[in-house]
Amino acid sequence: MALLDSNEWQDLSGKLAAASTSVQVQELRAEWIGRRGRITLALKALSNLSPEERRQQGQVLNAAREQATRLIDERLEQLRQQEEDRQLLNERLDMTIAGVEPKVGLLHPLTRVRRLLEDLFLRMGFSLAYGPEIETTWYNFEALNIPENHPARDMQDTFFVDLPGMVLRTHTSPVQIRGMEAAAGSLPVKIIAPGRVFRRDDDATHAPMFHQIEGLVVDRGITLGDLKGTLVAMATELLGASIGTRFRPSYFPFTEPSVEMDVTCAACGGTGCRTCKGTGWVEILGSGLVHPVVLQNGGYDPQEVSGFAFGLGIERLAMRIFGLDDLRPLYQNDLEYLMAFDRYTGRPML
Ligand code: DAH
Repeated sequence: MALLDSNEWQDLSGKLAAASTSVQVQELRAEWIGRRGRITLALKALSNLSPEERRQQGQVLNAAREQATRLIDERLEQLRQQEEDRQLLNERLDMTIAGVEPKVGLLHPLTRVRRLLEDLFLRMGFSLAYGPEIETTWYNFEALNIPENHPARDMQDTFFVDLPGMVLRTHTSPVQIRGMEAAAGSLPVKIIAPGRVFRRDDDATHAPMFHQIEGLVVDRGITLGDLKGTLVAMATELLGASIGTRFRPSYFPFTEPSVEMDVTCAACGGTGCRTCKGTGWVEILGSGLVHPVVLQNGGYDPQEVSGFAFGLGIERLAMRIFGLDDLRPLYQNDLEYLMAFDRYTGRPML
């Protein structure tokens, strides 16, 4: 009967060292000390020996079994430890890895400019007023002193709808009348009216639908000075303290006198270029003192009160603020284009 010799021990410890998984070690355990293992079988074969040999070799074999068991258990424990280390390493949280930025929506550039204006005028004490986009010809034209055959109607190529006496409003000015009616004779009337308007226009700087903000102040003793102070304050806050402003005589049926407000051209800074047709100025709004007939149509006595009004295009102001030369992409819902406004940092996000 062959005892375990040193070659066999080397075989076992070599194989244990080479085993890289606990399954491999369990296989070695079966091979050596399992029910049909080498040492187990040798122990069983002891009964064939003489009592003397049995005693002697029994001691050796029992010691061998103990040693093999210890070696196997040690290796198992080693591998278990290694596996645990590896797992801990894999599961380690690296707090320095950059996170995945969630996509966040943002306000449309036109909404931002509208909110800038609303915020500015609300701080000046104005309140918001609204009117319908499908408007009667009375509110859109007649009440504003634009009679049926007045040439001013040609200035605003109108969308008519299939309802007699109704149009898509061509400006936000009808809210002047509606605002005065809602105030029902109380003073002051101090409103701004943002909203959509519609005209038969379509090119790089005119869209058939665009946005205006109307302003109206009615009180005792309102003068052109109030108009100027309000609008210059607006321009300097929106476009910077260094902006130049000027007021030019103009004509609107619903104001008398009428003035247009210009600001220094953003492209050339006022020296004159293609954008401003060499003048150094660009027009940003129409305004004036409210025509007596308009006050009357709103239910106010022009002998007692006066007022000023203004109307400005939000798109035109947005083009100025964001430096755009074409407004059409603003309506094309190209997310890539619209998201780029996120990087515009010159102004707080409103
Ligand atoms: N409603 C005019 C337009 O759409 C703009 C305007 C001019 C509004 C003068 C006013 C004003 O309130 O006083 O072109």
